[in-house]
Amino acid sequence: MNRLEGKIAIVTGASAGIGKASAILFAKEGAVLGLVDIDDAAGEAVAGQINREGGKARYLHADVASADELETAINVFAKDFGGIDVLYNNAGGATPRDAHLLEMPLDEFDRAIGLNLFGPFVACRFAIPYMQERGGGSIINTASIRSMIGTSGADGYTAAKGGVVTLTRALALQCAPKRIRVNAIAPGAVLTERVRALMDQGNDSGPDEKMVNRHLLGLGEPEDVAPVALFLASDDSRWITGQILPVDGGASAN
Ligand SMILES: NC(=O)c1ccc[n+]([C@@H]2O[C@H](COP(=O)([O-])OP(=O)(O)OC[C@H]3O[C@@H](n4cnc5c(N)ncnc54)[C@H](O)[C@@H]3O)[C@@H](O)[C@H]2O)c1
Repeated sequence: MNRLEGKIAIVTGASAGIGKASAILFAKEGAVLGLVDIDDAAGEAVAGQINREGGKARYLHADVASADELETAINVFAKDFGGIDVLYNNAGGATPRDAHLLEMPLDEFDRAIGLNLFGPFVACRFAIPYMQERGGGSIINTASIRSMIGTSGADGYTAAKGGVVTLTRALALQCAPKRIRVNAIAPGAVLTERVRALMDQGNDSGPDEKMVNRHLLGLGEPEDVAPVALFLASDDSRWITGQILPVDGGASAN
């Protein structure tokens, strides 16, 4: 308990799935939470739940593909709460028309990059100066099993997540002197509502049978990833930076 006592954390994509589970866990561990999403009703509901349960959270609308919206949200949280210690760049996912590169509309590539790579890139840019003022911090980016092994079906998304891996390592180097750690979680298939829907539709950008069978421990739940995000956010991981941590039920080892 209280592993994030006194910490101010921002979670993007906090209205659903892994982001929601992590925000709720971070709040239980004492963090003050700034929640970012585009699903305002669900985001307000998560903030309401945290506040009712004795935590402290505020929700703000920001599309992570928009530098202006992200900058505004991060500045408001930092001023309201008195700084930023943790940034969890969680918002992401395969965009609707993503597919094999020979088949997908080319403008979908920009959407995939905007959501999955530009978002974390600019969030880091706006949050790092606030972390520096606090004497350090922890950034958690979100890669994917698709950035660790060869897969097909969502080539824009996969390329963007590969960028997240290299961005994480580069930033770890640059931020270590500022005592800011930068790591990434690479989830395997996690049964969020979005992923369940893709699987029900037989959509290629969700896990296919081959991918499902790789998971030695079965498919995951958001609550399987949230404690790993907590570990990376907390001082328990104080000597870890620049790492890409697969949280995938053994899928990338199989
Ligand atoms: N679920 C999986 O199987 C899986 C596997 C590998 C990686 N991931 C990654 O984990 C992260 C979370 O995935 P999830 O399955 O929990 O997703 P999810 O779809 O359940 O939740 C994503 C949240 O992000 C929000 N969001 C979407 N676009 C946004 C935008 N432009 N700006 C701000 N918020 C936005 C959504 O409204 C939603 O609340 C993503 O980065 C995803 O790529 C998930």
